[in-house]
Parts: sequence; C-alpha cells; structure tokens
Amino acid sequence: MFDGLVKSPSIGPAIGGSKPRPGVGVEPFELTSNGGGRVALLRRVKRREATFYEVIMFDSLKLSELPKIECGILRKPSSTRPTIRVVEEKGVRAVVKDFSTSKFLFRNSVGRFLVWRESKAYGKMNNLKGVPRLYRVIDGLALVIEEIPGRNLEELEDKMEIPQAFFDALKDLVAGFHKRGLAHCDLKRAPNTLFGHDGLPYIIDWGASVSEKEFRPFPLNLIYRKFLRDDYMAIIKMKLRHTPGAVAQKERDFYRYRSGPEKMLRGIRDRLRRILQKIA
Ligand SMILES: Nc1ncnc2c1ncn2[C@@H]1O[C@H](COP(=O)(O)OP(=O)(O)OP(=O)(O)O)[C@@H](O)[C@H]1O
Ligand SMILES: [Mg+2]
Repeated sequence: MFDGLVKSPSIGPAIGGSKPRPGVGVEPFELTSNGGGRVALLRRVKRREATFYEVIMFDSLKLSELPKIECGILRKPSSTRPTIRVVEEKGVRAVVKDFSTSKFLFRNSVGRFLVWRESKAYGKMNNLKGVPRLYRVIDGLALVIEEIPGRNLEELEDKMEIPQAFFDALKDLVAGFHKRGLAHCDLKRAPNTLFGHDGLPYIIDWGASVSEKEFRPFPLNLIYRKFLRDDYMAIIKMKLRHTPGAVAQKERDFYRYRSGPEKMLRGIRDRLRRILQKIA
C-alpha cells in the first residue's frame, strides 16, 4: 500500500474536530507521492488488536465548492430545513446536509446547533453497521455523510411489502445504538429510516438524538427510558403501516399501553388542542 508513497507528518486535528474515541488513532496523516503531491489522507484505526488505515474522504472540500461536485439536490432548503445534496469526489458519493444556504440567524443558531448535535451522535456510533459514516463537518454548517443507496420508508409506502427480516434487523440496530448510550428520538418519522438496496435498514437524521449521559440525573433518567421505549414503538408503528399482518399481539399491546403520567399528559394535550380549535 505504501509502495512509492511517503508518509508525511501529522497535519492537524481529526475530521470534523471530533474528540478522540477509544481505540481510534487521533492524528490523521498524509500519504504523498514521491513527487510530493497528496495521494490520500488516512487515519489509523485500531479495532480488536488489528490496525486498519481508513481513508478520510472529502477532507479538503469547501462550502463554496459544493455546487461544483454536486450530482443532484435531494431536497431544496426551506426556512427551517437544510439543503440536502448528493456530491461525488474521486468516485465516492456522499449526502451533504447543508445549512449554509439557510438565512443568517437560523443558520448561525439552530443550524450550527443541529450540525453539532448530529455530528456528536455520529461520533458515538463508532462505525455501527446500519448507520452511515460521517465523513466530516464543513465550517460547522454542513455534514458530509456516506450515501446509502436505497429509499426511505415514506417513499416505499404502498409500493412494496417490506419483509419481516428487515424489521428484525432494525430491532437489532436500535439495540446496537442503545447499547452505545444513544436514543434516536425521531424514528417515528418514516423518512429517517432507509431501506438499503442490500435489503437492510439504515438510520439517518440524528439531530434530535439524546445520550444516556446527558439524561443520567434523576428524573431525566426516567425520560431517557421513555425515549428508548419510543424508539422500539417506532418500529411497531412502521410494521403496522407496512406489514400489519406481521405484527404480533404482544407488540400491539406494547404499542397501545400508556402509563399513568403519559395518559395524564395526553389528556392535557388533547384538552388544549380542543380549546385552541375553538379559538381558531
Ligand atoms: N446518508 C444518506 N443516504 C441516502 N439518503 C439520505 C441520506 N441522508 C439523507 N438522505 C435522504 O434525505 C432525506 C432527508 O434527510 P434528513 O432526514 O437527514 O434531513 P432533515 O432535514 O432532518 O429532514 P426532515 O426534517 O424531513 O427529517 C432523507 O429522508 C433521505 O431520503
Ligand atoms: Mg429526517
């Protein structure tokens, strides 16, 4: 791999300014050809006693260059939503969630906050299968994420029957990130789950996720437990929509069950809604 190539000294912090993770080499380094040009930016990753070299993609990409390497726009920006672009560099495609096109105030408050939250969540996932890789963050305003070939579950509604194996894999995936101390919190939105071309589930859009650490103190820990439960409820909701015949009675009961405090909150919410409807 290093034939004819020279390893140059470390050139700065890890991608996206993310914190070092256990077992992950912190310092990326350049591979240059004997002629001096950069060939690739690599980082050393140690997993289970073995050392790998990961190529860091899109490392020199600037916001102003996004339109140049764009292959398409998945979604145009709105007042509260980023532009979603697909870009390609050296044959690798990525999805860019780009808040740099939002209005000044929104971009520099909510936009930066959501990008920071989402990149933090990706950092915790540590290459969990079923979660795309975050290549990098550009200027705190855009996330460059591995493109998952496939369709989101909203697009697939009434178009195809989703096999039970997909939902089983989704359940394992949810258990996987719960184990890493994260709750997604926005899985009920069908566009956040992708049905990959390989038939496997992928979960995106981690801006609303919360970590177990943040919610450790009582009574936040109880709320965190509810978030974990909601992630599983979301799977049942998807199954009810896509393959209702495959939903077991146990799952239906779990989906319908409401605890005392939850019933109370829902009651207050419904009463407020009725009052607002009368006023409007
Ligand atoms: N990594 C990816 N690979 C493939 N498609 C993706 C990827 N990321 C996003 N998309 C597509 O773009 C859509 C919007 O992405 P995402 O949910 O992250 O944006 P959002 O601004 O949070 O949208 P929303 O407000 O609708 O939830 C997804 O539903 C999916 O179809
Ligand atoms: Mg989304």
